[in-house]
Amino acid sequence: MTNVLGRTSVGFERGFNDQQTELAIDSLEVKGAIPGWLSGTLVRNGPARFHLDDKTLNHWFDGLAMLHKFDIADGRVSYANRFLDTPARRADADGKMAYSEFATDPCRSLFKRFTQVFTGPGFGANANVTIGRIAEQFVAQTEYPMPVAFDPQTLDTIGVVSFDDRLKGAVTTAHPHHDPDERAVYNYLLNFGATSAYGVYRLPDGTRTRELLGRATTKRPSYMHSFALSERYVILMEFPLVVNPLRLLVSGKPFIANYRWEPERGTRFTLVDRRTGEVNHAHTDQAWFGFHHVNAVDRDGEDGVVDLDIIVYPTAEVVQHFYLTSLLDRPNHNVYPSSELRRFTINAATGTVTSRTLVDHSAELPRINYAKFNTKPYRYFYANGIATQGESVFLDTIIKADVTSGEVKQWRYDNHFPGEPVFVPRPDASTEDDGVLLTVVLDASQNTSYLLLLDAHSLSEIARAQVPQHIPFGFHGTYTRR
Ligand code: CO
Repeated sequence: MTNVLGRTSVGFERGFNDQQTELAIDSLEVKGAIPGWLSGTLVRNGPARFHLDDKTLNHWFDGLAMLHKFDIADGRVSYANRFLDTPARRADADGKMAYSEFATDPCRSLFKRFTQVFTGPGFGANANVTIGRIAEQFVAQTEYPMPVAFDPQTLDTIGVVSFDDRLKGAVTTAHPHHDPDERAVYNYLLNFGATSAYGVYRLPDGTRTRELLGRATTKRPSYMHSFALSERYVILMEFPLVVNPLRLLVSGKPFIANYRWEPERGTRFTLVDRRTGEVNHAHTDQAWFGFHHVNAVDRDGEDGVVDLDIIVYPTAEVVQHFYLTSLLDRPNHNVYPSSELRRFTINAATGTVTSRTLVDHSAELPRINYAKFNTKPYRYFYANGIATQGESVFLDTIIKADVTSGEVKQWRYDNHFPGEPVFVPRPDASTEDDGVLLTVVLDASQNTSYLLLLDAHSLSEIARAQVPQHIPFGFHGTYTRR
């Protein structure tokens, strides 16, 4: 397709091609000059195989997890990639799909289905979403509470992490929040039942012992890919994409196909006080859906009032958009559903919610200067964007948005498709956007990928490091300073 300015955005389909070649390259070809202060490791997670021997997976979120590592030091960049070695991966190597994914199911007996849904985990540990840390181990994470530890040097898979506690759950998020002052991680576990319950927990750094903080019940659990953390609250934004847990058991459909869009429910917010565990709810009649929260900030001097910023869509159509049949197979591709950054002002005492648009530009996979500005007043977020709303099928730009003015800067290049931009602050930075963005870009015309470094202030290119093969579209990565 060609947009009105004559710029092209073709070939994104190559980002969904399998990549089975595992490389280890000491020094990638670099164009430009890598800043001397940039010394550390970016590990990214994402799907790399969709075509199994006996089945093609249905959805972007289903593909088998692969880790990608970029070591940056002294102006040089090394690269290595390895499949995560999980039961799902091993079952595929045996020529069989044996575990459930987000939107693809093998044929299973009712007994196995019961085991997986209600006593979980029993999924294939295909942890393809994020990279985190638990008790000093690096872990790959997904929405089933089975983090998979790996060796950050070799990318060898170590195994599923077990916890020293009795908390259980069938579903979690791959986006725990970390509070550097408290030195603890927050997340929730969802237990399905006649009445289901979200259990919000904290996990002190360096331990494997999760502490239950608060519990909220629901008859119809929501599909929530992430949640928000303010200084005072853990906030679950319960979109009306909901499931009757019984359907997970008897429908015979894959996980997400059991969820229904019921906009008449509106959107409920569950706020768990981090100090007391007290649970409050707030509600708006408006229906929203989203994957990624951007930030949440308690209002100064207004007790129990919090501003929660999230990328939202007016419907859950985007979940359908990411089916491979929707993205790839149709003669006329579906266009990317439009999203916006919206601020929800929630009053925990009155249960009321108001909202307004902050940035009217489609975005996904947002990042901020997290270490310094999460839970605090902030100005910028970085994300993938859409070059031409109503034409682009897939994310094809990097944007930097000013949440105070709504102004958007954009980086794009014909037929190149960037992934999530990870912000790395310059040591001793004095401003919020003093640093670089690291993003993996698919060059669809060459069928290769490269690590791109952008100046986070101006979005101008600093350098790129060329990988000699394509890297399938991933989700999230983590940068660790050396
Ligand atoms: Co995510």
